[in-house]
Amino acid sequence: MKTLVTIGRGGTGKSSFTALMAKAFIEADKSPLLLVDADPDQNLGEMLGIDLKDVGKSTLADLIVDTFIQKGGTTVGVSPTDRIESRIWANGLYEGKNFDFISVGTKWVEGCYCMPNAALKAALEHLTKNYEYMLIDSPAGLEHLNRRIASKVTDIFEMLDHSKKSVEHAKRAFRIAKEVDMQFDNFYLVGGYRFPDELSSKAEEELKFKYVGKIVADPQVDDYVLNGNSLLDLPSDNPAFASVKAIMKATGYIQQ
Ligand SMILES: Nc1ncnc2c1ncn2[C@@H]1O[C@H](COP(=O)(O)OP(=O)(O)O)[C@@H](O)[C@H]1O
Ligand SMILES: [Mg+2]
Repeated sequence: MKTLVTIGRGGTGKSSFTALMAKAFIEADKSPLLLVDADPDQNLGEMLGIDLKDVGKSTLADLIVDTFIQKGGTTVGVSPTDRIESRIWANGLYEGKNFDFISVGTKWVEGCYCMPNAALKAALEHLTKNYEYMLIDSPAGLEHLNRRIASKVTDIFEMLDHSKKSVEHAKRAFRIAKEVDMQFDNFYLVGGYRFPDELSSKAEEELKFKYVGKIVADPQVDDYVLNGNSLLDLPSDNPAFASVKAIMKATGYIQQ
């Protein structure tokens, strides 16, 4: 299984990048595919045309609270990991035609939920074995990801924008990944739609990570997001989508 994580500051274009990568995976017939929204803002679902409530599904946070905190106690003979895993299969996992989707949600944010965190992580580790590709939209920070979702990923895509802060964000994210012992094969820089392309070599030089391309700024993407349309329905020749496909080609995920 390959796990791709998108991180970066708010508004840099992480969620739209994740949705467009999903579109490219789908068009290239790469499956099974799991999409994970680990952003408390929860806008990846909308960009994929999914409303969890409408389809009777809950976020992982809601399932955790319901299973371990509200219901409390223990079910004799069933481990916390098995309990949460079966709840995710039944009540958390959205199963679409070309991909599945889960959302982490916001309800349980901090506090020492050590047991739920560990149970969730073990459950997800087991559940995600069924997929070939997993895409995670994760601005929440790598320490949270590491603690709750996954300690091992293939690629981290750091989305840059035009601010100096996004360079700082990349440095900090890389340092935290090391500190929390997150395993990854590649740490890539992606120029967000507001990133000036001419800064790519400077960013590469300063950060020492590979710059894999820039997302084209495109009014149609903005329009789709604004109107709550699924980015999966963008025309195949959309320029922003083409730039995402170029990045996936550069990183070896698709051929053309
Ligand atoms: N390629 C693009 N071209 C133009 N606007 C974009 C593009 N990608 C995203 N946007 C706009 O930027 C805003 C933030 O994008 P989003 O993907 O939600 O960022 P993030 O997840 O990093 O917060 C949205 O309003 C979206 O419409
Ligand atoms: Mg987002």
